[in-house]
Amino acid sequence: MIIFDILFLIFLLGFIFWVSSHLFSSIFYVPYVNSSDSAIHDALKLAGLKKGDNFLDLGCGRGDALIVAARDFGAKAVGYEISPFPYLLAKIRTRRHKSILIFHHDFKNATKAVQNADVIYLYLLNSVLDKIEGKIFDNSNDRAKIVTLAFKFVKHQPTKIIETKNLGRETNIYLYSKNP
Ligand SMILES: C[S@@+](CC[C@H](N)C(=O)[O-])C[C@H]1O[C@@H](n2cnc3c(N)ncnc32)[C@H](O)[C@@H]1O
Repeated sequence: MIIFDILFLIFLLGFIFWVSSHLFSSIFYVPYVNSSDSAIHDALKLAGLKKGDNFLDLGCGRGDALIVAARDFGAKAVGYEISPFPYLLAKIRTRRHKSILIFHHDFKNATKAVQNADVIYLYLLNSVLDKIEGKIFDNSNDRAKIVTLAFKFVKHQPTKIIETKNLGRETNIYLYSKNP
């Protein structure tokens, strides 16, 4: 009986952690929704991600794009995630990948990572892209490619737009280049 109580308590605590983490990111930041592997592949291919490149996912969720970038493209992948549950999940899922680094920080503190990145990937709402657009375009290096899934920047024009399927829905991927 005591074992049942302990298991129930663990489940309850896990559930509370999961729900509060989702509420936290939905209310203060962006709801946590992971993108599908095929959409990530299309985005990273469009950006021309190569072996040894520095890849950056701002708001990396549970690490799906980091895993695809490191495993399938041979990139060095860095992610920032503010919400505790997806961050923890990302840490667990990427524990075997030496070339993946994840920070439990607000990506507003990612200036250095933005400067170093060859490819920056963003799956965030328009309202959030709007707020960080200046910072990303001002701080990224001249060779950087920036890809956004489903949502786009307002002040910069994409150099290419392709269609993909994300979570069963047709959507767009937008490519931005500082030097097209
Ligand atoms: C729509 S999810 C995308 C997850 C992942 N990039 C993917 O494509 O599967 C957006 C994530 O960004 C995170 N996020 C939003 N604002 C953030 C911020 N300021 N700093 C760090 N992470 C943030 C949210 O917690 C959420 O997990």
